Amino acid sequence: MTNRAPAAERAVALHRERWGAPAVVSRAPGRVNLIGEHTDYNDGFVLPMAIEFDTVVALSRAQRDRAGSDVVSTVVSEHFGEATLDHQRDQIDATHWSAYVFGVSRLLDGRGIATEPWRCSVATDVPIGASLSSSAALEVAMAAALLHVAGESWDAVATARICQRVENEVVGMPCGIMDPLICASAVEGHASLIDCRSLDIEPRRLVDGSVIAILDTMTRRELVDSAYADRRAACARAADWLATDALRDAQLDAIERMPADLRTERRRARHVITENERTLAAANAMDAGDADALGDLMNASHASLRDDYEVSGPALDAMVGIAQSSPGCRGARMTGGGFAGCAVALVDTEGAEAFTRTVRDRYRAANGLDAGIWLSQPAAGASLIRSEE
Ligand code: GLA
Repeated sequence: MTNRAPAAERAVALHRERWGAPAVVSRAPGRVNLIGEHTDYNDGFVLPMAIEFDTVVALSRAQRDRAGSDVVSTVVSEHFGEATLDHQRDQIDATHWSAYVFGVSRLLDGRGIATEPWRCSVATDVPIGASLSSSAALEVAMAAALLHVAGESWDAVATARICQRVENEVVGMPCGIMDPLICASAVEGHASLIDCRSLDIEPRRLVDGSVIAILDTMTRRELVDSAYADRRAACARAADWLATDALRDAQLDAIERMPADLRTERRRARHVITENERTLAAANAMDAGDADALGDLMNASHASLRDDYEVSGPALDAMVGIAQSSPGCRGARMTGGGFAGCAVALVDTEGAEAFTRTVRDRYRAANGLDAGIWLSQPAAGASLIRSEE
């Protein structure tokens, strides 16, 4: 990710090769979640931040043919090649990567925002499939470009809702709103405490003297979507039994009364209830500048995700254990949906390079894999880089 031009340059070059100068260039970042995992679809609290890797979309309008009937849009990606969609005839192929871009276009059209036809190129520095929200970054960057060419104003919450619907209704991934919302709304230098019921967003400064380390196990897992849907369904059953709308409203003493045949649901609910408490406590620890308290909460979050929610995995557990016991680390946990991909650690800025070297060496010795490790300050949410309209 180092010895090449930034994603913006690559996306523009790709657009120029095919179609000349783009009308608009937009970017949206990946994200890492500091704490508040698997709480968003339970109406709970999350505390993510945008990271310093972007997905960039360079876009222009395509001409309709003379009869006005040619409404074919084209996307070309530096990683995945090209795809086209005839808006009047074609179904979107939910299993194809282009569903993220075509889905955004179709749902915006469905809201009366005329976006089609268009052509665009995509480049990204967000590691793909690593739990860093590469898909939300793509959707949000696409939405920003299309809204701009349609002359619409930018609304982070409305955009995030559209992108979540693309995942839920077009791609078939029943995810919550955290990822597109932080990609769309992040404030530079801050993580955001998000109430996933009211969608209130409160930016919080990272603790002074600390930096976030993103630790990629370099493992990926297929079939994460079905495990995710399974966890979501267990939470819904627990909420049903507790007669609450969402686990956000449930209390720990109430779940202890759940019957033995719901013991899995009880453990899932215990994670959600305690994780919401930890997330609010983590925001307070950030306000107080207390890196130790924040780190302890991250460690407890990992244990709960591993033991009660069962969404960690061997490589994530190894990485988190290594990070937690390396010098300069205040706390570490898996981040995102789980099973594989990335962990996140809170590290003293002074000594962060030594932490990185230690974790890399120890992870290689333990797993035989070269971890991807990046130090990141909180980045800004989606924006336009350039517009010629
Ligand atoms: C994925 C989903 C999010 C969220 C996390 C777990 O990233 O896209 O909505 O549920 O998993 O916290």
